[in-house]
Amino acid sequence: MFGIALAIVLCLSVSVQGIFPDDPKPCKYGDGECIIKLVNTLFSERSSEADPGLNLERLDPLKVDKLVISQGESASPVGITLTFTDNLLYGIKDQRIVKVKGFGKDLTTKHEVKIVAKNFSLVGPYNINGKVLILPISGTGQSNMTMVNVKAIISFSGKPLEKNGETYLDVTDFKITMRPDSTHYQFTNLFNGDKALGDNMNVFLNENSEAIYKETAAAIDRSFSQLYMGIVKGVFSNLPYAKFFAEE
Ligand SMILES: *[C@@H]1O[C@H](CO)[C@@H](O)[C@H](O)[C@H]1NC(C)=O
Ligand SMILES: *[C@@H]1O[C@H](CO)[C@@H](O)[C@H](O)[C@H]1NC(C)=O
Repeated sequence: MFGIALAIVLCLSVSVQGIFPDDPKPCKYGDGECIIKLVNTLFSERSSEADPGLNLERLDPLKVDKLVISQGESASPVGITLTFTDNLLYGIKDQRIVKVKGFGKDLTTKHEVKIVAKNFSLVGPYNINGKVLILPISGTGQSNMTMVNVKAIISFSGKPLEKNGETYLDVTDFKITMRPDSTHYQFTNLFNGDKALGDNMNVFLNENSEAIYKETAAAIDRSFSQLYMGIVKGVFSNLPYAKFFAEE
């Protein structure tokens, strides 16, 4: 009985482990081409399940507990606090890495990943307050903020972190910049549900989405940096750095 139970547990733990650590590790240190292929396979084929071997939750849709876009610079024509809670972010499965730098044997070098994505849609409850190009805006409801054809660059540095005699990569100076071709907004229940005002505001936001994105880009980058930093930190805190790469 115990033997069978043990066998089942072992089988389960093998099948739920993803690309690491039990699978053969195909990439050598700094082998950009190999890393691109491997991680793109992870995005396209494994985004819909958690990957305990990599300490990853499901990536698509990605649960976003809270994301705040706060743009308060007084010189800007946009001054808003936009809070998304319990949202889902769709689109990671269609994103592809196109270039990789770093990830060599020396983990303290700068690591950089260039990504192209189709649509990123952040969907769920929102709250907004402030002004957009001089118009006051307020509301609480459901929203869909979609960024189309995003080019993103993620960069971070590594600090060695010793744990139980092994060296882990501690992620520092994490930054993401995202440049979408266009952005689309859909906010329900703006202005306490005043339909005429809300409909007009949605039209206005979408007609001016380029200008609005420009004013909020830095704030959006900051909040997405927080989100993605958590994921990347989780991956590298889970296994010693050397375990990600094939033996030389
Ligand atoms: C991406 O977003 C655009 C703009 O809102 C939309 O027209 C298009 O259908 C979306 N594409 C996909 C694959 O969802
Ligand atoms: C969000 O909006 C985009 C287009 O702007 C659309 O393609 C997508 O299906 C919407 N997502 C949801 C979950 O409504």
